[in-house]
Amino acid sequence: MTKPAFFQVAIDGPASAGKSTIAKILASQLHFVYVDTGAMYRAVTVAAKKAGLSYDDEAGITALLPTIQIDFEPGQPVQKVFLNGEEVTEAIRSIEVTNNVSLVSSYGAVRSDMVEKQRAMTEKNPVIMDGRDIGTTVLPNAQVKIFLIASVDERAARRYKENKEKGMKVDLETLKDEIKARDYKDSHRAISPLTKAADAIEVDTTGIGIDEVVAKIKKIIEEHRA
Ligand code: DC
Repeated sequence: MTKPAFFQVAIDGPASAGKSTIAKILASQLHFVYVDTGAMYRAVTVAAKKAGLSYDDEAGITALLPTIQIDFEPGQPVQKVFLNGEEVTEAIRSIEVTNNVSLVSSYGAVRSDMVEKQRAMTEKNPVIMDGRDIGTTVLPNAQVKIFLIASVDERAARRYKENKEKGMKVDLETLKDEIKARDYKDSHRAISPLTKAADAIEVDTTGIGIDEVVAKIKKIIEEHRA
């Protein structure tokens, strides 16, 4: 196995397990570049909507890919995301996008295009990349692979709180059903389904505070850097 020139940390796991929160804090503490791959699939979903395409139009979305440029910029409290120069940081988190991104991200051409873009982001800097297939497909030689999990109840409660803070009202049971549906779709798609890499370390965040999870993963990273 060839070790990547720049250090790579892959964080995979189901929706709302805390991947992006944890990855962002670790990236800032370790001075690594943070790559939120879910945001990239979400940006493609927004691009499809803007082009007036139906989310089930695989051929239309495939044809759109060469015109899609996705960029990240540092921002607080979240990284800013741009689609062809236009900021889509909020648009990619809409309920419509959240409920259709699993379908759009299941298309082979979408995945190979995103994987290519994601790998290119590892060439000049150490990275922490979060997603569903990072340890298995995108960065199979990553020095550290983490598989972050949490119970459905806890993940729904976290999303409920986030939504409430954003002024969105969605009931807890609906959120649970949406999370279960997305877990199912993400784990059962034909290409690069959500699975734990054989060499990934599982970290269960149920009932554990963010600081504790960050400290635990930081220790694992430091052990591998030594
Ligand atoms: O992490 P997230 O909820 O922002 O991800 C949005 C969707 O994108 C998720 O339903 C599955 C998909 N995704 C993927 O297929 N592969 C990745 N590496 C990241 C996300």
